[in-house]
Amino acid sequence: MLHGIDNDVVENAFARDVVVGLSADVKTLPSRWLYDERGSELFEEITRQDEYYLTRAETSILRERRRDIADFVEPGTILVEYGAGAGVKTELLLAGLRVPRGYVPIDVAGAFLAETSSRIASRFPSLCVRPIERNFLDTFELPFIGSGGGRTGFFPGSTMGNLSASEGKTLLMQMSRHLGDDGRAIIGVDLEKNLDTLLRAYDDGAGVTAAFNLNLLKRINVELGGNFRLEKFKHAARWNEIEKAVEMHLVSLCDQSATLCGRTFNFITSETVHTESSRKYTAESFEQLARSGGWKVAELWQDEDGLFGLFGLIRC
Ligand code: AVI
Repeated sequence: MLHGIDNDVVENAFARDVVVGLSADVKTLPSRWLYDERGSELFEEITRQDEYYLTRAETSILRERRRDIADFVEPGTILVEYGAGAGVKTELLLAGLRVPRGYVPIDVAGAFLAETSSRIASRFPSLCVRPIERNFLDTFELPFIGSGGGRTGFFPGSTMGNLSASEGKTLLMQMSRHLGDDGRAIIGVDLEKNLDTLLRAYDDGAGVTAAFNLNLLKRINVELGGNFRLEKFKHAARWNEIEKAVEMHLVSLCDQSATLCGRTFNFITSETVHTESSRKYTAESFEQLARSGGWKVAELWQDEDGLFGLFGLIRC
């Protein structure tokens, strides 16, 4: 037993996070568990919703500013992508760069990583592709891919916004170490804007984000033998002014309890489970974060509506 939690729960990271998160005074569930197979499909669907401007805005920057981005990156670079995902933005970036030499995608999802790696390798046959199956927040070394050419980190999609300030700093420091003194980094960041636009992006009219959030309870029911009644919870998107973040919550619609892993958790009406934070930055607040991890902002490329920022970083 560890702090009153059974051994089989301790060994299962999902069970452990759920039991610990639901036992806290303010209930939380870590956002990484939103992405089972169904959750990943729903997230892809979110990116196609009218209200979710982030993906469209970032893709437009990669298209429109492709020359400027290529000028920022040294010819012959090795592109290191933290949290590789589907790789669509990567293809756009690689297509614009001058003779990139290598591509190192890093992702915990092995099957996804293999698929993205082989697609990129066949689209760019001269590129040396060396995937790494790891959580990008773990400490690890990059493979050696010849000398010269420099390295460029790529962290698109506003995933930086889902990290706490200390996780963001940890990642930026790891990137400094991986990419070296003349390394560069390109980071996609969602910018602060009016609250209506922000909240609608996380509570779309078709209910896809709501389904994405509620899917976490379904996952707990299936994988951990839980008995959550999904119809007794609703999705809510809320702005946290102190954290400058849109938060996703699951709101209990009545006094109720749910059981999982041999434990019972009580919920009162309107009590929430916080499932995700999506931090929003200004040029100044992102510069501050970048500096904490050993980088400074050299470039900021934006879409025409100024919704999203792609930051070009160099070492401090
Ligand atoms: C993956 N991540 C950047 C998304 C975001 O905007 O924070 C996840 C998401 N959650 C709800 N909608 C999208």
